[in-house]
Amino acid sequence: MVKNEELEVNIIDNGFEGEGIAKVDEFVVFIPEAIIGEKVKIKILKVDKNIAYGKVLEVLKPSEYRVEPDCDTYSKCGGCNLRHIDYKYSLEMKKKAVQNTLRKALKHDVEIENIIGMDKPCYYRNKLQFPVGDEGGKPAMGVFAKRSHRIIKIKDCKIQNKNCQKVANDVFEFMEKNGISGYNEEKGSGLVRHIIVRIGVKTNEIMVIIVLNSMNFPHEKEFIDFITTRNSNVKTIVKNLNDKNTNVILGKKNETIFGDGYIFDYLGDKKFKISPLSFYQVNPVQTVKLYSKAVEYANLTGNETIFDLYCGVGTIGIFASNKAKKLYGIEVIENAIKDARENAKLNGIDNSEFFVRKC
Ligand SMILES: C[S@@+](CC[C@H](N)C(=O)[O-])C[C@H]1O[C@@H](n2cnc3c(N)ncnc32)[C@H](O)[C@@H]1O
Repeated sequence: MVKNEELEVNIIDNGFEGEGIAKVDEFVVFIPEAIIGEKVKIKILKVDKNIAYGKVLEVLKPSEYRVEPDCDTYSKCGGCNLRHIDYKYSLEMKKKAVQNTLRKALKHDVEIENIIGMDKPCYYRNKLQFPVGDEGGKPAMGVFAKRSHRIIKIKDCKIQNKNCQKVANDVFEFMEKNGISGYNEEKGSGLVRHIIVRIGVKTNEIMVIIVLNSMNFPHEKEFIDFITTRNSNVKTIVKNLNDKNTNVILGKKNETIFGDGYIFDYLGDKKFKISPLSFYQVNPVQTVKLYSKAVEYANLTGNETIFDLYCGVGTIGIFASNKAKKLYGIEVIENAIKDARENAKLNGIDNSEFFVRKC
């Protein structure tokens, strides 16, 4: 097998990231956007020892589960990889992936229950983070292309909350109008690296974080007015400094330039404080379903002790705390534990203790 060779192959399985898998002689070929049961014409892009990578040139025999992707930039973007597959069937694929992983780890067969999906699997993310780059001296905002840091411009991402998207578009419009530069990775120059917008979907409170290569943001006062006048639900705006040559999005230093530096959200009837650096599950609709299922399966009687390991800001334990006698949360990041203690207080929970420890 050689690079650029064109072949007709049968897809015999799908891999962990949804990629199609074919066998050609002694080679296993990985082909994104191909579905089990399909016959496809492919072009070989890369050949390793016993593994090759290809791309679909033509679908010769489509799967009954193939659908038209609902996104214009789907094939180029590195964000989603299952939008060419019927959603219900993609849940089956995920179930199989979990089952295979467990079978390998446990070395025996396991029965798992069906995946509980979303009713509408669109516009669900409560945290948008768009990279901002430099295109010939002009800023460009969008998403990274697959396996690259080339920015694909995008104005309507199918998984982002629409409010967050609007605020990000406004931030970018302000940059364009005021000649504020985007970050040039190669040169380490330019100002804005990322635009991050977080929303508490139950409170509708929005936090804007602009990740900067230097804390001098021009026209800061006008920027605050521009964003908050257009979006009355923006409760806080934070500057974050990241002047390192790194793929990590956020730096450690924050400066709040509007509001209190945090927003709130609810999971079920519990209220949580979200700070710029805190981890908070990104799909709040599914989080509530997942946590409720876990509590249901735990079958708590009120006499148990819950250990919420890797607890972050304490969401899982606090969600379940009313049904148990005692809650211990353990987490390695000190600030997360501070937030967890505050979250427990916020919800009037007095049977909990949180510790900074490594699990
Ligand atoms: C994916 S987050 C989950 C947080 C929380 N359970 C939730 O669902 O919102 C994982 C957390 O584990 C923490 N963590 C990672 N390694 C750890 C370790 N060895 N010991 C304790 N906590 C750790 C991280 O700081 C992070 O807050």
